[in-house]
This record gives sequence, structure tokens and C-alpha cells, in this order.
Amino acid sequence: MCGIIGYSGESNAKDIIIDGLRALEYRGYDSAGLTVFENNRLRTVRTTGRVNSLNEKTAESIRGKQKCGIGHTRWATHGEPSERNAHPQGNDTLMLVHNGIIENNNELKENYIGKNYNFTSDTDTEVIAAVIEKEYKECGDRIQSIRKASERLRGSFALGIVFSDCPDTVFATRKDSPLIVGRSSHGNFIASDISAFRKHTDKYCRLNDYETAVISKNDIVIINREGRSLSPTWHTAESRNDSADIHGFRHFMLKEIYDEPEAMKKTFEAITDNGLPDFSKTVDDDFFRRINSIHITACGTAYHAGLLGGHFIEKLARIPVNVCVASEFRYNDPVTDKNDLVIIISQSGETADSLAALRLMNSRGIRTLSVVNAQGSSMENESDCIIRTHAGAEISVASTKAFHVQVLVLLMIAVKLALVNGKITEEYAKEILKEVQNDFTYNIPDILQRSNSILPVADRLSVHRNVFFIGRGRDSILATEASLKLKEISYINSQAYPAGELKHGTISLIEKGTPVIAVVTDSFFYDKMKSNIREVKARGACVISICHRNAKEITEISDEVILLPEETSSLMPFSASTVIQLLAYHTANALGRDIDKPRNLAKSVTVE
Ligand code: G6P
Repeated sequence: MCGIIGYSGESNAKDIIIDGLRALEYRGYDSAGLTVFENNRLRTVRTTGRVNSLNEKTAESIRGKQKCGIGHTRWATHGEPSERNAHPQGNDTLMLVHNGIIENNNELKENYIGKNYNFTSDTDTEVIAAVIEKEYKECGDRIQSIRKASERLRGSFALGIVFSDCPDTVFATRKDSPLIVGRSSHGNFIASDISAFRKHTDKYCRLNDYETAVISKNDIVIINREGRSLSPTWHTAESRNDSADIHGFRHFMLKEIYDEPEAMKKTFEAITDNGLPDFSKTVDDDFFRRINSIHITACGTAYHAGLLGGHFIEKLARIPVNVCVASEFRYNDPVTDKNDLVIIISQSGETADSLAALRLMNSRGIRTLSVVNAQGSSMENESDCIIRTHAGAEISVASTKAFHVQVLVLLMIAVKLALVNGKITEEYAKEILKEVQNDFTYNIPDILQRSNSILPVADRLSVHRNVFFIGRGRDSILATEASLKLKEISYINSQAYPAGELKHGTISLIEKGTPVIAVVTDSFFYDKMKSNIREVKARGACVISICHRNAKEITEISDEVILLPEETSSLMPFSASTVIQLLAYHTANALGRDIDKPRNLAKSVTVE
């Protein structure tokens, strides 16, 4: 949550910061602000709303030369989204931008800062500025004051700081919230992630907890917690692909759904060889042997990918799997054994709860494997092994293509586990992989070509306030993801239910005309689903079924159908998943929603 950028160099700082904030806006977008040194004096501009309004505001108010500054795009935690609470926050001594949450901010305010300080916002961030100022006044050393203040803070923080008496220098520190440093030919950067400065350089280094960075035009100094200077380890980011461009689509979400075949192909090719899963670049086969049980943990859509992964692993490898949302897993004191494997799934590799779950497992010495899309993330750094997905940049807050490739990797892990533990034959494994290939080569492109056929169903759905999704087995998990997608971007309330469970309560909500979307793509459940569809129809529901062309009886008893191409085995959720994403997209579009940046949400949730 919240995007941070800082720059010191030869170029115009305001333009670089605004541009970087645009790339970071997926992290939060309820307000934005920047502070720059203009003629050696600090100038701060803040605004509610998006980076565009910050751009307009600064165009009028900041016209002088400025070569250094910090910027922020916010997802509110302490204090409503307003100009007063936007970052940078600070005082006459310093201004700072903050990502994270300070849990002891009231305590610090009352017991450490005292009544004489005039707080002007409701943020925990302003308290950090007050603490650093107090330390600075006492010790007279900027780095020491940041280090001392950091030790007083409880919670998570990534900070970009400028001191009024130290022009053209940015200070930064962090704990449990990501922050990196970049160096380019025209100046140096700090940022929440590389997308903020990727246009300028591919060279970056990570800041570890409690390290402090000092960047100026020609210099980068990193100091550790004990005050010793460190030589940074520089990484080179992957070459930029054009997946961050919208390519004429109306929304990134739609464009990203259209990216799915390519993302799946790239990911598939990276982890298969000769028609079989091959993870040897990162994990050897031994890693997958002698596993008692598996825990899968993640948040949001990645959690739903995890549910599918658990389903596949149990089905193919017959190893028990516990799938749990990371915000619960980390506090559940999960029962683990040294022969367990923990799989963490994350597009960003930075989600606070997932990262905390990973750290908990690391502290217990349990094998950890992370499935991550973004390069250079904290998870990449901290897991025993990593399997990268290759979705490219995913900009829309609602995850689509990243979900597809996460599910693909998990299916390949399930096949690998089944193979190395002798549960399936190579022949069967090859059949599964062939089906996956068919899905991204033929079936999903076919659905994308017919995307407009979903429009009438979406129009019909858009006038309702309550929708139900039902399914069985794998389709019940897809129903859950479909419900999340629809809620996230259309703001229509929906519930997903395993179709057999509806009659244990929720069916009382069905009345004449209530839309029930039945995901019926696994032929094993056709007969059961027919009965469940009839049950809701008997109570007046309008049933929209997502099924295969040959599911004749399902088609006959449904009010509307969205047809999938050829029938696939019960292991292939991909085509149906593309359909549910398109359905959510077109419904939200019919309602004129802000699809790529839905209200109150953020793409990267780096606070718990
Ligand atoms: C947020 C996003 C979701 C995403 C979830 C997990 O809630 O809005 O789209 O699925 O975080 O993010 P991760 O980066 O860990 O996959």
C-alpha cells in the first residue's frame, strides 16, 4: 500500500517524481503529494485523488529549478483520505513519506513527544516526523536521528525523508515494508518498487530492515543498524517488456485478460521440458520428496489460486493440503512438521500477511517455496526456493492473468509431486500438460474472440444488487473467485456457494429473478448440478450457466448460457476462469465503474 519515490540528480525532480508516482499508483490512489527542494527550500504540495490532480496542482505552484525530492501516493490507514492527511508529512526540520503502519503512534505522541508539538494531521506518519525531529535536535546527526527514531517505532515502515538543512539529499530507511535504491546516469533513487524508476535504470539494490540509505546526485551511502557503512549488492532488473502499456484497450483489466494466452505460454515454457514439469532451474526433484503435508497460504485472488492448487495436489499426489488465507495462517499457530512444505503465492511478492506467513515458516525451519510474479520482491529474497510466474506487469487492481499463471504453476507442482512420489505415470502427466497447452493455444483465444457474446449477460446482471455463484469441486472454487471479481470491480454484492450447500440456509435468499450463476464445467458433476439448478429455479432464480458446448441438459434448463469451447478434463480451470473474469469486467463496464482502480482497494497490500 502506498507508493514512495525519492530522487536526487540532474533532471527535473518534480517531473521524475510525478512520473514515478503514476507507475506506483496501483499501490494506492486516494491522495498524493510531493516535497521538492526549490532554490534550496522545501516546497510541499498535497492533494486528494489521483496523481493527475497532483500534476495539475504542481504545474501551477512549482515552477523553479528543483533537482531533488520525495513523492507519495496513498492508501489511507490512519486518517481519512484528505489533503491534510496526504503525505509528505512533517515539520520545519524535515518532511517524510511513509508506507506502513506505526502501531505505537499514540503512545509516542503522548509519552515521548508531549503536548507542545502541534500536530496538523490524523496520521501516524506525522508522529514519525516528530520523533525524528526530536532525536535530531538532541543529537545533531541526521542518520543517527533516523536510526534512533526507527528503534522507537513499532509496526512497519518504509520512509523517504528530506531535511530542510540538507538540500538535494534524500534519506531512507525501512522495516517490514519494501524499499529499494536505484542508480542511474543522471541521478539516484529510492522507491517502493522498481517500476517507479525502471524508465531510468535497471540497477537496484535492496535495503534491509533498519538500514539507512543516503542518496545525493553522485553518491549512495548505505548504513547498517549499528551505524557501519555497507557496500550495496547491485541487481539488474529484467528487461522491460511492454506489458505495462495499455495497447489501445479501454482498461488494463481487459488488456490483461487478453494477455492470458501469452502469459501462460511463457510460464509453461519456463517450467516444462519434453512435455513434463521441470523446475530444475530453481528446485531439484528431491525437494518434492518425503513431504508429509503441504500448507498453502496467500491473500485475495492468489488465495483462490491456492485453493485450486490444493485441490490438484490432493487429487494427483494424494498429499494432504491445508490452504489458509495468510492473515489467519500467520496467527493460527499452524501445526507444522519438519517434513512439511509451505507454498506461498503472491503476484507482488510483497503482501504483508503472506510475507509474515513466510517469515514464520522460515523461523520454524520449514521448507518454503514461493510462487511470485514480480522480480526483486522480498519473497524472492527470503524463500528457500522461488518459482517465477511470467505474467509481466499486472496493473489492474483486480488480478486476472497473474491468477492464470499461478494456477498453472500449482498444477505443474501437483504433477511433479505426483510423479516423484510415484502416484501417476509419465504418460498421464504428459496428457495433462498437453491439455494445458491446448487451453492457452486454442480454447482461451477462442473465448477472447467471442468476448462480446458475454455482453448481453453482463447487461442483464448489472441491474441486480445480489448475485449467487454456485459450483461443485473445482467449479466451486472458481465460483468463489468469480464472486470476488464481480464484487471488487462492479460493487454488486455476491456470494459463492458450493452448490450442495445452498439448501442449508442461503437458498432462503433466492426470490423471483435472483441471478444464480452456475459454473458447470466438470462433467463428473453434471447430474448433481442439474438438480441444484432445478432447486434454485423452482424458487424463481434466473440461472446463467457457464458450461461446455456438449452440456445439453444444463443448457436446456438454464435461462442463459455462456459456452466454453471443447470439453476438458476436471483439471483445467483456465477457460472458465477467463469467462468469469470477462463477465465481471463487462458487468462493471456496463455500470461505468472505475475498473482498474476500484474504490477503497489497492493492488499491493503491504500493511496487515
Ligand atoms: C490485493 C489485490 C488482489 C490480490 C491480493 C494479493 O488484495 O487487490 O488482486 O490478489 O492483494 O496480492 P498478491 O500480490 O500477494 O498476489
